Amino acid sequence: MAAVEVKPDIYWIGVIDRTIDLFEGIWPISDTGVTYNSYIIDDEKKAIIDLAKGNKGDDYLAQIEEVTDLSQIDYIIINHMEPDHSGLIKLMRRLAPQAKILGSKKAIEMMAKFFDITDNVQAVEDGDTLSLGKHTLKFIYTPFIHWPETIMTYETSQRVLFSCDAFGGYGAVRGGIFDDESLTPDFYEREALRYYVNIVANFSARVLNAIEKLNAIPVDVIAPSHGLVWRADAARIVNLYKKWAEYATDEAEPGVTLLYASMYGNTESAMNAVARGISRAGLPVEIFDAARTHVSYILPSIWTKSGVIIGAPTYEVSLFPPMAEALHMVARKRILNKKAAYFGGHGWSGGALRELKTILDPLKWELGTTLEYVGSPKASDLKLAEKFGEEFAKSLLRS
Ligand code: FEO
Repeated sequence: MAAVEVKPDIYWIGVIDRTIDLFEGIWPISDTGVTYNSYIIDDEKKAIIDLAKGNKGDDYLAQIEEVTDLSQIDYIIINHMEPDHSGLIKLMRRLAPQAKILGSKKAIEMMAKFFDITDNVQAVEDGDTLSLGKHTLKFIYTPFIHWPETIMTYETSQRVLFSCDAFGGYGAVRGGIFDDESLTPDFYEREALRYYVNIVANFSARVLNAIEKLNAIPVDVIAPSHGLVWRADAARIVNLYKKWAEYATDEAEPGVTLLYASMYGNTESAMNAVARGISRAGLPVEIFDAARTHVSYILPSIWTKSGVIIGAPTYEVSLFPPMAEALHMVARKRILNKKAAYFGGHGWSGGALRELKTILDPLKWELGTTLEYVGSPKASDLKLAEKFGEEFAKSLLRS
């Protein structure tokens, strides 16, 4: 795609990646793709802000050359060292060796370790400024969004905040790069949430610190390194990130994630009865089969809903493995303080509930009612399952 003007002299030169299957080698995005947004400022001094992953170098170079010759670039600013943004750094060093590379002190250290680049680099401090001519850049330390070295770069005359991972999302751009050009805002907001919970949520306290710090800065355009560029309603993505970050410590929205896994359909039967009970209470429910749904899609539901019902059988005196694996990722992501309930069956001895407690206890989940049956759930068990779902949902409405 051609370079796109964001503001006078400021251009988007992003790389659109629709062939990637896994982001960070973990999170499936083959249906959505992703964009590595990069920007160039064409002033007396010319600066690139963030690069891109190393897989589409030719496209990227062609976009730069629409704006300026590579030999004219004065600065490359590395907000974040993760290789989805720095992957082209060695190529750029070869083709534009005159360009000084700027980053936080920690980024400069990491640059040597990741790419063996140590010459013509300069560390910037929090609050430092850099004049390009008409445009002045200010560097804002925002550690751990997403790595410890991460900064944001702020252009002061046009009030553009290059926020890197913060305020980003999955999703290759679909023609328009701006929020006001997007005809599918629900798609981007859903994928921004999934990205937030998969990638950023563990650092939610840092996100809130950064948003607090940014309150002192007038921002007209949020230009992240993934997802849409927000110029019509920059506050929208900031407020969404704030809401999601607050869920790390505050109660989430009323609703139930109904997470189940079934070997031969018995747990599924019980799950349908539980779901009927929840809906009778009038509460939203999202249903996931843990064995067939990547945890990337499950995590956003658990993050944003106040309650979780877990349905899984005992398997070899323990919790059915697909459920245990999904919940281990929930634990890795430190999703705390949920209200939960459990149902499931066993053939000759239990064990699922015992393992479930060992996973949930460190997360401080409040495990309330449990419903267990032997073999298949009978009609009486299914009636109990409906009641179980309804009562759990009502308890969430009361809290
Ligand atoms: Fe988009 Fe943390 O890299």
